[in-house]
Amino acid sequence: MEKLMIAGGRPLRGTVQISGAKNSAIALIPAAILAETAVTLDNLPLLSDVSIYTELLTELGATVERDHDQMVIDPRQLVSKPMPNGNVKKLRASYYLMGALLGRFGEATIGMPGGCNFEPRPIDQHIKGFEALGAQVTNENGALHIKAKQLRGAKIYLDVVSVGATINIMLAASRAKGVTTIENAAKEPEIIDVATLLNSMGAKIKGAGTETIRIEGVDNLHGCRHSIIPDRIQAGTYMIAAAATRGDVIVDSVIPKHLEALTAKLQEMGVHIYEMDESIRVVGQPEYMSVDVKALVYPGYATDLQSPMSSLLTQASGVSVLTDYVYSNRFKHIPELVRMGAKIRVEGRSAIIEGGMLSAAKVKATDLRAGAALVVAGLTVPGGITEITGVEYIDRGYDHLVANLSNLGAEVWRRDE
Ligand code: EPZ
Repeated sequence: MEKLMIAGGRPLRGTVQISGAKNSAIALIPAAILAETAVTLDNLPLLSDVSIYTELLTELGATVERDHDQMVIDPRQLVSKPMPNGNVKKLRASYYLMGALLGRFGEATIGMPGGCNFEPRPIDQHIKGFEALGAQVTNENGALHIKAKQLRGAKIYLDVVSVGATINIMLAASRAKGVTTIENAAKEPEIIDVATLLNSMGAKIKGAGTETIRIEGVDNLHGCRHSIIPDRIQAGTYMIAAAATRGDVIVDSVIPKHLEALTAKLQEMGVHIYEMDESIRVVGQPEYMSVDVKALVYPGYATDLQSPMSSLLTQASGVSVLTDYVYSNRFKHIPELVRMGAKIRVEGRSAIIEGGMLSAAKVKATDLRAGAALVVAGLTVPGGITEITGVEYIDRGYDHLVANLSNLGAEVWRRDE
């Protein structure tokens, strides 16, 4: 295994190109198997989760060709087969195969999801949606077996605003008989991205991005070409790192509107932000105000940017309160930050963060965004080298990390553990 070495204290300066959104890509790839002919995806991020999905689709008989940030998925030879173990256990979002295979074949057997382990992550709302569409769902030795003679449109109210459940139901409903409405749907940009792909394939979906999505089922879907939206979480992480190192960074190829909540919070702290059409410039300042942050569903402040923000808040004077209303225990990175000298205590869903200098230490990433928080923290520490193990978690969400940070002037390198 590798570890990341960071000699911090250097302001990040320059421009970083943001890649396609991970949380779109790992829904768009399974969505493509609903088509009868080839689907081309552009602006694909080069991430391990994307490679795992390539293997999953190949196991199902699709042909998948990769060329840099382009993927062509030809599902014509696709077969429905049980996937109780193996690669499905490597990433949580393998659950999108349930909706896609159910929509295409009326049947799916998929092992219960793996992935980031910061807290139990149920899929009861996904199952509620599949059953509403007329499927029988049984748990067979840790794999979900889902079967429907004929999927029929239904009115589904989500008890919890869930990105995954909203997308999974959309996938299955796209080829059901009749109309499905999803009430209390999640509104993340990645949901709009999946609906855009499905509509380009011939689906009839309206209202994606609002709390009510209407899907009129169609008999079949065809191939198309689709460019993936930029990764707002990757972009936000670089914005936070720019502020934390008092740098001057332009994050390029982004949709500024997707980062509104973060931009507003950074400005509230005293960071100078300049928005252009497809880029955002972040200019760090010597002093920051402490602020309170509430992680909520979109368009609220993103829970995926809660962890990196906790590292920046150690640089603000005074006490900040960071509360996550989406996940109740997404603070596994806090003890690692405390090892770096951070003055943070966790009370329930909140982290109480006091400003103060950090120092270099050996720390470990326990999940993707926790790892990102440690990278931000390491970048702010002058003198000394921060060593981060668990880099494989970070590589799931940040492609070209060392190259991008080095191009911005950081002293970062990988070393075998
Ligand atoms: C997606 O996860 C993202 N992952 C997560 O990003 C992100 O943190 C999360 O949405 C929230 O924005 C992908 O898109 C692959 P949810 P997802 O269903 O869909 C509860 C990252 O770092 N819930 O919106 O799994 C759940 O426990 C990852 O890139 C149920 O109770 O999240 C959570 O508290 C981490 N029952 C809340 O809803 C369900 O059936 C939101 O979860 C489903 C979810």
